[in-house]
Amino acid sequence: MCGIVGYIGKRDAAPLLLDALRRLEYRGYDSVGEATIHKGKLYVKKGRGKIEDVHRELKLDSLPGNVGVGHSRWATHGEPSKRNAHPHVDNSGKVAVVHNGIIENYEELRQFLRDNGYSFSSDTDTEVVPNLVSYFMKQGNGFEGAVRKAVGRLKGSYALGIVSVSEPDKLIAVRKESPLILGLGSGEMFIASDIPAVLPYTKRVIILEDGEMAVITPIRALVKYTDSGKAIEKKPLRVAWTAEMAEKHGYPHFMLKEIHEQPEAIRETLRVSADELAQLCKMLLDAKRIYIVACGTSHHAALVGKYALAKLADVSAEVVISSEFQESCMVDGGTVVLAITQSGETADTLKAVRVAKAGGARVACLTNVVGSSVTRESELVCHTYAGPEIGVAATKTFAAQVAYLLLLAFNLAKMRKCISKVKFDELVAQLQETPNTIDAVFERTEKQIEELAKRYKDAKNIYFIGRGIGYPIVMEGALKLKEIAYIHSEACPAGELKHGPLALIEHGIPVIAAVVPGSARGRMLGNVEEVKARGATVIAIAADNDEEIKRHVNELISIPVTHELLTPLTYISPLQLLAYYIGVERGFDPDKPRHLAKSVTVE
Ligand code: M6R
Repeated sequence: MCGIVGYIGKRDAAPLLLDALRRLEYRGYDSVGEATIHKGKLYVKKGRGKIEDVHRELKLDSLPGNVGVGHSRWATHGEPSKRNAHPHVDNSGKVAVVHNGIIENYEELRQFLRDNGYSFSSDTDTEVVPNLVSYFMKQGNGFEGAVRKAVGRLKGSYALGIVSVSEPDKLIAVRKESPLILGLGSGEMFIASDIPAVLPYTKRVIILEDGEMAVITPIRALVKYTDSGKAIEKKPLRVAWTAEMAEKHGYPHFMLKEIHEQPEAIRETLRVSADELAQLCKMLLDAKRIYIVACGTSHHAALVGKYALAKLADVSAEVVISSEFQESCMVDGGTVVLAITQSGETADTLKAVRVAKAGGARVACLTNVVGSSVTRESELVCHTYAGPEIGVAATKTFAAQVAYLLLLAFNLAKMRKCISKVKFDELVAQLQETPNTIDAVFERTEKQIEELAKRYKDAKNIYFIGRGIGYPIVMEGALKLKEIAYIHSEACPAGELKHGPLALIEHGIPVIAAVVPGSARGRMLGNVEEVKARGATVIAIAADNDEEIKRHVNELISIPVTHELLTPLTYISPLQLLAYYIGVERGFDPDKPRHLAKSVTVE
């Protein structure tokens, strides 16, 4: 979580830092700040709230100087407030630090510093860092040496950007278990938590890895091992994303734009190399046991994958929420773990991967971000190509993950001779057609969804039911509604209603039912009747050739007919739109839901 940025060059640092922070705001937005150095003095502005609000009040772009750091916060230690906002400065006002991660031993370090005459003005774990750097500088070390000594005392995870008035021609970046990239410009350099921050300025990036630091001047970024100080030769990557891809293009919010980008995300992802897919198939076929680990929306995509693998390819995979993996899973040399994470930085998923590897498992990953942390932990790296996703709610990356997993299941089914070549070709053709179907879904349903949003915006509870592959669809729909509209929503396997949740159904309560074609459809109609009989208002999403469903429900969202396995791609857009429009009706910012952040880099 938290976004950190840094700049050193010839231009004024503050406006560039502000622009880069705006591009990273999806990582955290409860407070924001910048520090720059000018003529031997450190200047700091910071405040509580979203970037635009703080900027309106403080004019963040008005700090002087050509070097500086900035931070957009997602609070862990200490409430969101001005004094807990970053950058944090040492007692002498000479060293400023921005930090993403958690310093686990900060209490012990605070005590050490207090014993040496230092005091603290925030509740954060971060404030020990500038003071440790200052302490080691007072011991006679230069800026870089002091940073290395200070970092040597830290336990936990950190991406750090540090500047000091003692050496104003340097910006230092340090990474351990929190993402950090260097953007290499011409006569200027950037650091940032994520690539979109630097896209308007450069496409050449270096991805720092754990245990690495960079000593950066306007013309050089020297990467070193943090512990030994030994220089490392790193080849810059040229990123294919453009700054344009990370802009709104006339949409009022990134979330709406990204919902509408799903067809393109699927098209691009289906261009996966045959070699990558073959390697993943082989890895899974060689496995004695398969786990798919993921969180949130990626977990829902994983469930779609599990269903498709079992139904079509006769391959059994257990889907485990990443944070539960170490608590419950058996791992040995015959185990294969597929980690699904759009950001590639989710701490829970990275932990599951490490636990799996320690137990001897082989690991593959599916991620949307080239060079992200999970790629460095995995034997096989697979990519979705959804382009940058800025909205905190995952939308197009879900579609891309599902498309990839379906293609994987089709290929495995063919390899295992569960389906004929003709059937395989037919399924692949249908999958390739889904982007057009989704465009038709937008055409057909968006107005209807806007109306529904007006009608249900004040609902206190909304329940979602589905069966088979309809269940992960409604889980994802319910998650979107929670995070964007702040309405209590629960997804229930429709067959499970009678085992408890049915007791919650009362007159007028909205129940959203995903009625997918296939073997479970008939039983699903029975479940729809059960909730209707208890007074629920049923809104169904169903295939447009399902004549019977019309007689059972209060409102129908009608979707072009597809194969059952493709419904997670075609049914999800109306649910994403519903969450979006209800959130907007209720006056919330769908791109920045409260308490959440895009990239969850703490366990
Ligand atoms: O980057 P990841 O796919 O690993 O992220 C997992 C979850 O944090 C993420 O899907 C989260 O649930 C989203 N906010 C959902 O919209």
